[in-house]
Amino acid sequence: MNFNLSEEHKMIRDAARDFAQNELLPGVIDRDENQHFPAELVKKMGDLGFLGIMVDPKYGGSGMDTISYVLIMEELSKIDASASVIVSVNNSLVCYGLEAYGTEEQKQKYLTKLATGEFIGAFCLSEPEAGSDATSQKTTAIDKGDHYLLNGTKNWITNGGRADVYLVMAQTDRDKGSHGINAFIVEKGMNGFHVGPKENKLGIRGSDTHTLQFNDVKVPKENRIGEDGSGFRFAMKTLSGGRIGIASQALGIASGAYELALKYSKERKAFGTEICNHQAIAFKLADMYADIEAARYLVMRAAWDKDQGKNYDVSSAVAKLQASKVAMQHTVEAVQIFGGNGFVKDYHVERLMRDAKITQIYEGTSEIQKVVISRSITKT
Ligand code: CAA
Repeated sequence: MNFNLSEEHKMIRDAARDFAQNELLPGVIDRDENQHFPAELVKKMGDLGFLGIMVDPKYGGSGMDTISYVLIMEELSKIDASASVIVSVNNSLVCYGLEAYGTEEQKQKYLTKLATGEFIGAFCLSEPEAGSDATSQKTTAIDKGDHYLLNGTKNWITNGGRADVYLVMAQTDRDKGSHGINAFIVEKGMNGFHVGPKENKLGIRGSDTHTLQFNDVKVPKENRIGEDGSGFRFAMKTLSGGRIGIASQALGIASGAYELALKYSKERKAFGTEICNHQAIAFKLADMYADIEAARYLVMRAAWDKDQGKNYDVSSAVAKLQASKVAMQHTVEAVQIFGGNGFVKDYHVERLMRDAKITQIYEGTSEIQKVVISRSITKT
């Protein structure tokens, strides 16, 4: 067992760290305040290869492994979790979904542009009445010969108003349950496709979240992904990888808050000494350090499983469950260490605390991760 990062992995991590410090940090408070989507920064991340990290270079990707992906995600998320969710959805859900399950034509037409950042992708599974209960899709896609007719509503879609390509799950045969669901590629601007108003969110406010409406959208037959009826399994498999991305986002949020709290505790004085010298603060920092280290190993384990071609459904759920719990718990502690300053936007930790919450909700709530884990460990 080797716990050391390779020199290449260290270089990738350092490049992401530099980008986050130099490019993401300067405007992050303003983007959060004004719900401003970082379009220019997304373009720069595309140029750096961050939008197609694991995609084969023959489709315009960076050809890196999942360990590299989580290292990049952690560094971006320390500074700006709104930027990192754009990276995570584009990589894990859209690029991976197309590369693993798309036809060669679909890869040439869409993946090559998504991997370079020329296009942005969105993943559309959740509905007003089908969030955790993802098999209960109400969106329908009726087979009309050379095309499907798509009708329905999708909710809380990351990159919803900014994407060029949307992977949309829909029921094609309700009687078949989860085997009657298909995944489709829908393009921005198709007739009958409407983007609803932007959500006003608690956290990750720089990311772009919308409800989408599909009214008789004609989706060409060749835009279905995979075999007929494979859409639910496509969504589940893709989400397993997505959970590695969100676990690394949660890890980054936690470690970003920890680094800020540690630095502050060495500068801020109370009762005649730096506050890190008070055990009340030192023990908080020790707990943060230990929990973040543990979460990091779980995230790395899930990434390693994926890179080794092992099943990562459970290890990704474990990593997401733990890392998101650590992110929520310790961003609250970071605010506490900062005291009154922690409640003020200039010090960043209140934003990290707000951003942490979504990591316990999207790409499967913590309860859903426990469903995945408990089903696996109690199976006879
Ligand atoms: N890989 C492949 N197939 C899988 C699978 C996986 N990981 N998980 C389930 N399946 C298959 C099952 O084997 C089963 O197939 P068979 O019928 O052939 O046996 C089929 O899918 C149905 O599975 P279940 O019976 O387990 O389905 P269920 O209704 O009990 O649901 C669930 C299982 C785990 C609760 C699932 O519904 C789930 O994960 N829900 C959460 C959905 C979610 O994560 N939504 C996030 C939205 S996306 C998002 O947030 C993106 C963003 O914008 C940031």
